[in-house]
Amino acid sequence: MTPWVEADLIIKGSSEVLTCAAGSRDGDGGLGVGRIPDGAVAARDGRVVWVGKEAALMEEVRLARGGEMLDADGRVVMPGLVECHSHLAWAGDRAEEFQLRVAGATYQQVQEAGGGIASTVHATRNATDEVLRALARKRLDRFLRYGVTTVEAKSGYGLSLEQELRLLEVYRDVSLAHAIDVVPTLLAAHVVPIEYADRADDYVKLIVKKMIPAAAKRGLARFCDAFCERGAFDVDQCRRVLEAGLEQGLLPKLHADQLTYLGGTEMAAGLGAVSVDHLDHVDDAGITALTTVAGGKRAPVAVLLPGATFFLGEGSYAPARKMIDAGVRVALSTDFNPGSSPTQNLWLMATMGCSQLRMTAEEVIRAITIEAAAALALDDEIGSLEVGKKADIIILDYSRGVEVPYRYGMNPVWRVFKEGKRVVKRDSPVVG
Ligand code: NIG
Ligand code: FE
Repeated sequence: MTPWVEADLIIKGSSEVLTCAAGSRDGDGGLGVGRIPDGAVAARDGRVVWVGKEAALMEEVRLARGGEMLDADGRVVMPGLVECHSHLAWAGDRAEEFQLRVAGATYQQVQEAGGGIASTVHATRNATDEVLRALARKRLDRFLRYGVTTVEAKSGYGLSLEQELRLLEVYRDVSLAHAIDVVPTLLAAHVVPIEYADRADDYVKLIVKKMIPAAAKRGLARFCDAFCERGAFDVDQCRRVLEAGLEQGLLPKLHADQLTYLGGTEMAAGLGAVSVDHLDHVDDAGITALTTVAGGKRAPVAVLLPGATFFLGEGSYAPARKMIDAGVRVALSTDFNPGSSPTQNLWLMATMGCSQLRMTAEEVIRAITIEAAAALALDDEIGSLEVGKKADIIILDYSRGVEVPYRYGMNPVWRVFKEGKRVVKRDSPVVG
C-alpha cells in the first residue's frame, strides 16, 4: 500500500487536469498536455506533492489539519500561466501613434520620425519611481487575474545607465510585494537613445562596459536582451551586447527577425540563447539554427508574439508550423508593450496561435505554460503540475482544455493559487 502523502491544499472535482508535464504525448503521439480526466492535485508548503486520478486521491493523500479542500466542480485545472516576454514598466501610451499607423504609416516610419519607442522613453524618464511602481503593480494585478503567475519583465525605456537600473529596481521592488514572480531582463539595447544619435557603437560600448556590469553586480537582471532590427541594432552590435551579458552571467535572449530578416536568430542560437523572440521573418537557416544545440546547452526556445504581428497589421506571422515540425520548442507571449502590443491577454495569444499560426490546442496550451517556462530557463520549477514544482495552479470556468483557444478574447480564470495560496477568486469569469 502506498504511504500517505500529506497536503495542505487539495483540488478535486475537476473535469480534467492538464499537467503540461514536459514529455506529455497526446493521442497522435505529438506533444500533449498531460490530460488527466477526473484528475486531482495536492500541494504542501507551496509545492505540488501529488497529481493523479481522483479515484486514487482518498487512498493516497491526507489533508493536514487546517488545510483546504476545494471542489473544482467540473472545471479545468492547469498550471499558472507563464508570461515569458513583456515590457512591463513604461509611462504614457501610444494611442495616437496607433491611429497614424491605421492611416498608413509603418511602425518603422513612426520610429524614424522620432515617435515610437523614443516617445515612450521620454515619458518613462519623466515619470517618478512611485508612478512607475504603481503602473507595474497595476499591470501585475491584471496579469494575475488572467491566471499568469510568473512574468518576465524587460527594461528598455530608460536607455541610460541610471534609467535602465531604475527600471530594474522597479521590478525588484514590485516583485517583493506581489504574488507574481517577476523575472527581470536588461534590454538596454532596445533602440539608440537620442543622446547617442549617429553614435550607436558608442552606446553599445556604454551597455557593454557600464550597464551590463552594473546590473549584474547588483543582481538586478537574469537575462540580457537586444532588439536586432533595422533602426535598432545590427547583428554584430547585438552579439557584442549578448556576449558581454554572458560574461557577467546574464543569459542571452534576442528580439530577432521581427520586421525584417537580419540573421540575428543564427547569431543568438550560436551563443546558446535561452530564447529567440518574434521570428516573423526567420528563414530556413534560422530555423535550422534553432534546432542546433550549442556547446552542451539546450537549443533556444522560439517565443512567438502573434499579438504584435496582429496589432502592427503590416507583416506575416511567424512560421510556427515549420518550426514545430522541425523540432523547435515554441512558446507564446503577449509582448505586452505600448507600441506593438498593448494587451495583457495571454489567452488571446493562444487563440491566435491556433487561428494564425496553425498550432493545435495542445501546442498553444503548452506554449503558455511549460514552453514559456523553458523560455525563462525555469521549466524545472514552474510551467507544469508535477511533484516538486511550485504549486502555481489555476482553475478555469471551462470543462475542457480544448475550449482554451476556442472562446477567444475571454478571461476564463475562476481561481488562482500561487505557491499553494489562493490569490484570485472570481465569481463571474469568462468575461474581461
Ligand atoms: O517587442 N521590438 C521591439 N520592442 C517591442 C516594441 C516596443 C515598442 O514599440 O515600444 C516589441 O515589439
Ligand atoms: Fe518585445
